[in-house]
Amino acid sequence: MTASFPIRFQDLEQQAQDRLEPKVFGYIQSGGGREETLRTNETSFEKWQLVPRFGADVSTVSLDKKIHGETIQSPILLAPVGMQALANVNGEKASVSAAHKFGMPFMASTVSSYSLEDIAEACPDAERWFQLYYPNDEALAKSFVQRAEKAGYKAIVVTIDMATLGHREKDLTNKYSPFRLGKGMSNYTNDPIFQSYLRGYSQEDVLAEMQKVFFKPDLNWQHIQQLRKATSLPIYIKGVLHPDDTEKAVELGIDGIVVSNHGGRQLDRCIASIDALPLIKARVQDQLTILLDSGIRSGPDIVTALALGADAVLLGRPFVYGLAISGQSGVENVLENITNDLTKTLQLMGINDVNQVDHTFIRRMSTPE
Ligand code: FNR
Repeated sequence: MTASFPIRFQDLEQQAQDRLEPKVFGYIQSGGGREETLRTNETSFEKWQLVPRFGADVSTVSLDKKIHGETIQSPILLAPVGMQALANVNGEKASVSAAHKFGMPFMASTVSSYSLEDIAEACPDAERWFQLYYPNDEALAKSFVQRAEKAGYKAIVVTIDMATLGHREKDLTNKYSPFRLGKGMSNYTNDPIFQSYLRGYSQEDVLAEMQKVFFKPDLNWQHIQQLRKATSLPIYIKGVLHPDDTEKAVELGIDGIVVSNHGGRQLDRCIASIDALPLIKARVQDQLTILLDSGIRSGPDIVTALALGADAVLLGRPFVYGLAISGQSGVENVLENITNDLTKTLQLMGINDVNQVDHTFIRRMSTPE
């Protein structure tokens, strides 16, 4: 790790800010509305306290986790983040390579800067999952999934919290929209179905056409059921916060959920993921895999999520800031730092295998809220 690379999240954020155009940094950093959720995503972790135990030999610690039958080297995955070339010219190609070095699955966004095929080619051996913004066009939805299968992606993650874009006050103030600038279109422009709509049209029409199919405000369980029939890959639903929604997911044979509020970028005053997790776990038990994101910044955050019932967590902004600071090596620095923090946290708790973490290691603070 380079000596000057930031360790603290605040320093990562600051250095990323120093390197990026203000509007671009604002887009990455900001949240929906007045950013209440953005703030509570982090502070909600502080309502919990870890309770260490004495006596285990912690000279080595195993971080291996089984997720839908496959072993991953760490309970950390890289969250789907669109348009990563905004942070660094190599975008997803750099971050997928960094993720692979740490044996962490990489989730490629539907609105990635590079197409899902280009990301696969940049790091063919990485464990890659494809995040689907279900398009407002069935043939295109099918085509995205088939392309992901063909390019060796190992799971489909359907994000359900994008009925419309969050009311992001910073971006609105800055008059900034990466969509309007035509970023994140490569999965569309490389798609044979999408291309067939556009023959003979100008670049402007391409943008208008993408915006037509991007949002699907009537997305519902029937589409998820269709998707279940259309692919044999594991399916995850990202953006689940209500325990009732998990029952339907189980009924439809969904493999897992991501408890997430999109890093506080969508609904403001939304429940923090870590606060939604206990009731979801109580309802789901072990019927499907539970992942969690939104506000994960440290080893203790990860252990808190695991103790409350998550199988693994997703990291969002921290790795994007690493990417902005120094490309692939910046992402590697971030992943190394959080892995070290997680390992030390487990050692100090008297745990030598991450699979041992359970609710007996955690207490809710008894002080009034
Ligand atoms: C995101 N996120 C996101 N999610 C998704 O399903 N598809 C996407 O394309 C994007 N794009 C995106 C861009 C940027 C700049 C950010 C910061 C986030 C949400 C992401 O997957 C994840 O849920 C959050 O980032 C997790 O919260 P933290 O770790 O950033 O607090």
